[in-house]
Amino acid sequence: MKKYSAAAEDSTIQESQGNNINDDIKNIINNFTGSYNAFPKMRLRRLRKSEAIRDLLQETHLSVKDLVFPLFVQEGIDERIEIESMPGIFRFPIGETLKEIEEIVSLGVRSIVLFGIPSKKNDTGDISFDNNGIVQKATKMIKDAFGDKLVVITDVCLCQYTSHSHCGIIKNNKVDNDHTLSTLSKIALSHAIAGADIVAPSAMMDGQVKTLRDTLDRNDYQDTLIMGYSAKQASSFFSPFRDAAHSLPSFGNRLSYQMPFTNSREARREIMADMEEGADILMVKPAIPNLDLIYTAKQTSLHPIAAYSVSGEYSMIKAASINNWVDEVAAVTELLTSIKRAGADIIISYHAKKMAEILACKKN
Ligand code: PBG
Ligand code: ZN
Repeated sequence: MKKYSAAAEDSTIQESQGNNINDDIKNIINNFTGSYNAFPKMRLRRLRKSEAIRDLLQETHLSVKDLVFPLFVQEGIDERIEIESMPGIFRFPIGETLKEIEEIVSLGVRSIVLFGIPSKKNDTGDISFDNNGIVQKATKMIKDAFGDKLVVITDVCLCQYTSHSHCGIIKNNKVDNDHTLSTLSKIALSHAIAGADIVAPSAMMDGQVKTLRDTLDRNDYQDTLIMGYSAKQASSFFSPFRDAAHSLPSFGNRLSYQMPFTNSREARREIMADMEEGADILMVKPAIPNLDLIYTAKQTSLHPIAAYSVSGEYSMIKAASINNWVDEVAAVTELLTSIKRAGADIIISYHAKKMAEILACKKN
């Protein structure tokens, strides 16, 4: 152990006339042989001694600018309907969406991700790329009203539109990758035509980002961004969403296309594939069970990283807070901040409105 202070005669503290340094302290200082980066020299509690110091040293700052609010728009309803498994979250008729977005924007949240719930479905989900489909109509109306003041992201997938609720086209009882790609690119193009700023393919088909980029560019939509649902897992935490969006598969499950939650190396390959295919933004989903994957994605790429804190993550916190088992404000703040700390630049969350309110009244 290096001896720091007692070695050099001239650096020791001498008791001179009129200077009344206590002997004990003098001895401690002069004979200290330990590390200055360990107790008792290092005292981390110094960093926490007042609120002002804690604020000064705060490393992660969540901002309302980081937040994206998911919005469900449903065809064929006249008033908003609360989603049973997601208290406080609603499906909106197209006529009520502008009012809702007004409120979102007034809280400072300037991005939404739109999910459509059509009134008719079929085997191949053709209504998903209809220029008069629910998402296309809503996007156009919202962009006409808000223009560049609001970022509209659209989810590009088939599960809400197919009668079997799988994310792709079925051939020989299997979800067929390449047939699905051509439908996904039609959906994305129809969203871009309607004015979507960002299209977000979530079907977990191989090559979906590349196919969308090619289609958009061929049709002069070079300026439409693509946010890849890059590492999207088959997760139990999507259950409330399937309740909300009527998209529970009628047979089988999504394990042949969504990722297993056990595999982080494979998640990295998905991330790298979307980088290669031209994604502008990479996403990890769900968020809280995957803070390690968010961190790794951030280290692996120079792209903005989005994290989707999904329906089940919302419902768990909401249910616990309704029961007063956790404090909603504190729990939401802690969880969303941890997602940012892990490396997410963009946080998609059903708590976004609540978080915006919290940020507005506390300075976080
Ligand atoms: C559509 C889609 C889903 C989610 C986002 N896009 C559902 C799914 O894959 O089953 C989940 C969002 C959530 O749970 O909040 N593919
Ligand atoms: Zn899907």
